[in-house]
Amino acid sequence: GAPQTRTPTGAETGAPTIANGQQGAYLTTANGARLRDTDHSLKAGPRGPVLLQDHHLREKITHFDHERIPERVVHARGAGAHGVFTAYGTAEAVTRAGFLKKGRETEVFVRFSTVLGSRGSADTVRDTRGFATKFYTDEGTFDLVGNNMPVFFIQDAIKFPDIIHAGKPHPDREIPQAQSAHDTFWDFVSLHTEAQHHTIWNMSDRGIPRSYRTMEGFGVHTFRLVNEAGETVLAKFHWKPKLGVHSLTWEEAQLLGGMDPDFHRRDLYDAIEAGAYPEWELGIQVFPDTPEETFAGIDLLDPTKIVPEELAEVQPIGRLVLNRTPTNFFAETEQVAFHLGHLPPGIDVTNDPLLQGRLFSYLDTQLTRLGGPNFTQIPINRPHAAVNDMLRDGFHQHAVHAGVAPYRPNSLDGGNPFPAGDAEHAFVDVPVTVAQAPKVRANPASFDDHYSQVRLFWLSMSPVEKEHIIRAYTFELGKCYHQAIKERQLQSLANIDPVLCEQVATGLGLPAPQPTVPLPDVTPSPALSQVGREWPSD
Ligand code: HEM
Repeated sequence: GAPQTRTPTGAETGAPTIANGQQGAYLTTANGARLRDTDHSLKAGPRGPVLLQDHHLREKITHFDHERIPERVVHARGAGAHGVFTAYGTAEAVTRAGFLKKGRETEVFVRFSTVLGSRGSADTVRDTRGFATKFYTDEGTFDLVGNNMPVFFIQDAIKFPDIIHAGKPHPDREIPQAQSAHDTFWDFVSLHTEAQHHTIWNMSDRGIPRSYRTMEGFGVHTFRLVNEAGETVLAKFHWKPKLGVHSLTWEEAQLLGGMDPDFHRRDLYDAIEAGAYPEWELGIQVFPDTPEETFAGIDLLDPTKIVPEELAEVQPIGRLVLNRTPTNFFAETEQVAFHLGHLPPGIDVTNDPLLQGRLFSYLDTQLTRLGGPNFTQIPINRPHAAVNDMLRDGFHQHAVHAGVAPYRPNSLDGGNPFPAGDAEHAFVDVPVTVAQAPKVRANPASFDDHYSQVRLFWLSMSPVEKEHIIRAYTFELGKCYHQAIKERQLQSLANIDPVLCEQVATGLGLPAPQPTVPLPDVTPSPALSQVGREWPSD
């Protein structure tokens, strides 16, 4: 029996001028027939009607008519770049992932994005930024699908359609394009107060980054790492930009939105093409894997919470250098498909309910966006590890599979492919104990604290950062038509900090309410401020 292999062609992924459709010197049809003329339809005489038999005309126009695919339902606007990740080896004690072993180099593709704007929207709007990294490791692809903010709006993926519907333009008028300058956004975040933490990050200067090159990145969720001995720890991933964290001023962001809506993607491409390769250090915060899954009283499964760096140091584990711009935006940046389930041995997921829902959503949306189940065969998505799966057929199948039938065990096909079992490099799910508990639609009580860390963030800001946050809330809330929504959001601000609340209320011409919860007693985390930080150096 012939082995049922799909030829691994991942090595081609990086080749800049793959010439499918660009071979030979002559213009041809898609079937390779040379064309004498591509500027004139075939007509019955120079003034006559166009003939239906003109295959070149029909092929050219039909293909053009189908050039567009659906943009991503979120993160539609993005820019990507290729690079290399080099491991320091400092994570070897906590994870068996081969690509994190000392000195190991792994090719990567990174896509930065805004969340809510459409594919043609401006780069400098106030929004969260996506920071998604595909590591083409030799043990299978690892996708770290993060943002430039370490927390998320909601604690459970079941609310994701709701927060996105609230943030996207209204269905009747298709305005506004800006995420946070309208009633439904503020209605949602003031009713679902778990969103207040992410919201203050958006209102801070982090919402208007200077450049993709000056953004931090965060895996947000807590992951579970497992080492060679099968021991586990919990961990959070952080990207630290070598250039430090910098933002635009609000006025700069507004001007650039009009004068150069491509500001961030131009900045990324120009820097790489000038040889000023952007760099980040990847770091992890490591926590003991206890049954409670908490650290310093913080629930590690709650994606609206951080662990302050003062409590758990971010330990550098490797360096990312982006050194090549894509050859073709559509082929690479538009067709790349990230998924949190793309994990190498040594990295596993946790029960964070937001993470669990994401594990379903990305593959599901990509089945539509990329036209069927075979998009892992698109060059940018091809693993650099050998692939020998039992998936067959489907739209846009490019592999020519051999053999009788893909099933296991199989006495006719020579036994190939062999399940790896516990062999080296096999992914083994960590056998975490699942609680014996009744089925419920409920959160743990620890998820109910919606204000402590928002206050922590506010108190950690420098005076100028506080001033910017006040102005941002005032501007964005000022765009609401409904006074009740402004008042409800002011109530949340009062629960965060009375000064913040008073200043925004004054700006809106409304009275400042009293807090409805005792002000949480928190210790500021200087690491949250963009001012006066030390950044990794050579
Ligand atoms: C896309 C991050 C939560 C659904 C993305 C992208 C990033 C991202 C960076 C863009 C990927 C790219 O460049 O192609 C995050 C983070 C989250 C989060 C950090 C929270 C911690 C969620 C949740 C859901 C979701 C809860 C759904 C339940 C999607 C979908 C896409 C997407 C459908 C489009 C994917 C595609 O079309 O390829 N997300 N996301 N996200 N996200 Fe999330």
